[in-house]
Amino acid sequence: MCGIIGYNGTDNAIPYLVDGIENLEYRGYDSFGCAFDSSGKIAIKKDAGRVKDVLSKYPIDQVYSNRGIFHTRWATHGAVNRVNAHPLTDCTGEIAVVHNGIIENLDELKAMLKNHKFVSDTDTEVISHLIEEEVSKGSSMESAVKSTTAKLVGSSSFAVLSSRDNSVYAVKKGAPLVLGLAKSGTFVSSDVPSFLKYTNKVVFLHDGDVAVLKKNGYKITNLYRKEPNHSVTMVKLSYEEVDKGRYHHYMIKEILEQPALIKKLLDSGLPDIKKAAGLINPSATVYLTGSGSSFYAATVGAYMMVKNGIKAMAIQSQDIPLYRRLMSNKDTIIIVSQSGETADLINSLDSISGIKKIGLVNTKGSTLANSVDYWLDMSAGQERGVAATKTFTTSAIMLTLLAYYTAGKEKDILPDLRLLSLNVYNIFVPSLYAAVDKVAAKLKNKENVFFIGRGIDYLSALEASLKLKEVAYIHAEALDAAMFKHGPLALVDRDLYVVSFMTKKNGPSTSNNIDEIKSRSGKIIGISEENDRAFDFFIRSQPAGAFSFITQIIISQLLAYKVSVLKKIDPDHPRNLAKSVTVK
Ligand code: F6R
Repeated sequence: MCGIIGYNGTDNAIPYLVDGIENLEYRGYDSFGCAFDSSGKIAIKKDAGRVKDVLSKYPIDQVYSNRGIFHTRWATHGAVNRVNAHPLTDCTGEIAVVHNGIIENLDELKAMLKNHKFVSDTDTEVISHLIEEEVSKGSSMESAVKSTTAKLVGSSSFAVLSSRDNSVYAVKKGAPLVLGLAKSGTFVSSDVPSFLKYTNKVVFLHDGDVAVLKKNGYKITNLYRKEPNHSVTMVKLSYEEVDKGRYHHYMIKEILEQPALIKKLLDSGLPDIKKAAGLINPSATVYLTGSGSSFYAATVGAYMMVKNGIKAMAIQSQDIPLYRRLMSNKDTIIIVSQSGETADLINSLDSISGIKKIGLVNTKGSTLANSVDYWLDMSAGQERGVAATKTFTTSAIMLTLLAYYTAGKEKDILPDLRLLSLNVYNIFVPSLYAAVDKVAAKLKNKENVFFIGRGIDYLSALEASLKLKEVAYIHAEALDAAMFKHGPLALVDRDLYVVSFMTKKNGPSTSNNIDEIKSRSGKIIGISEENDRAFDFFIRSQPAGAFSFITQIIISQLLAYKVSVLKKIDPDHPRNLAKSVTVK
């Protein structure tokens, strides 16, 4: 997936678009490129690297232009280099395209364009040549863009700038695109926060939409529907909410937002969860799905459902079609996704038509939020760090509450939520930071770390190990503590560090397992409410009843962040990753 932003209007587009594309770097940061109108011609600057690095080589701060399209890339087709950076042009250099998605019928389309000269290894380039082909036959730019779109198979949202007219074109097919309506002109972008400084008036585009951005307005038509119905939404987010502010990284900002989000959930989030629970048949089966951290949140949900006597299972999103044969129309599937755009989920949706779908989704207007029977808003605010932090905890808490509401046992859990909302503030105290710093310094040079726990603590271990892998580049493996003696114990020596999660209930059994590791010279880092004689390092977590695991997860996020920073990694932009994975 990649980030796209474009503008057409009466102001200088360049500062808006530079600012906007830097905001979109969480979507991909292999390469940057832009095309803008330069006295009736299309100028292009692009290269491999982050936005600021490419712009320091090819400065555009003196440029004045009223329209342009900018792109930040996460490579899918073709190596990370200058040629493959977007925009990609046609043979004449008059039509420039930036793209987010994958064209699945690339070979077939290229075969239709034998007389065109392709210079890159990208799939995107075929779009500019297809438009060129139509225009050369006499079509207007608008109808060339439309007939090109109709030929593309796969998820392909893109923007086009051409010297043949004065418009900017935007097509939504799969990956998200929104319009921002400012006084001076119109934006098109992969997300709202990229232009929030300039306007909060937004039009969410639908699949098949072709938007034409003129200097003084816009027009939307849809390839599949005669009358596309688009309302203007006033987005409530403020620019300050999505800015990094005084923090060095979004990841730490988002970790520290969690206490306030938990309080907000307690104060105003419960009615929607109750409503969602009312849609679930408690005597049928509940399937919960997601990818990555969202899958781990789904496992928490399934665990809590089962604990409350409800038949439930967590399935990875790519396995939905396999499990479809077990589902009946009384069952419910709960789909968890921060972005609402993860391809493994979206591609599985067709296979579960007829099954009741509840989406726990953070992004308004996303494909998933628009496709489910009931959208339960995660309400975590935009998450910009590539690693999920606040959206994981929000999902895990909401799914726990959903399980208790579905079972009619919410009275058992609400006091714990109140306790969590108080005690979560007590995590962030100087002694905690000192303990985490000490452990981070120990883990910094390790190549392998284990995370263990039993029951719910094992689910914390899964999520914690993913965090350390992605932001600190350390191979981290999660194991149920009970499984350790069935093989992995052979790996223990004096260099091995094991992080042990111990909530009160599971603590005593896990304690036996860490003794086994300790007696073979392994080092134990305990994240627990109480110290244990086997711990070499102890990080104190806070009690919160059934939600105690949340305070432990927050500590593990902080630990991964600290190790990342010690290793001089940018935790907001870990190598090879991007925030939402819109490819198979
Ligand atoms: C890990 C992480 C990813 C996402 C996964 C699903 O920190 O962020 O594993 O959880 O790519 O993304 P969403 O939730 O957008 O479907």
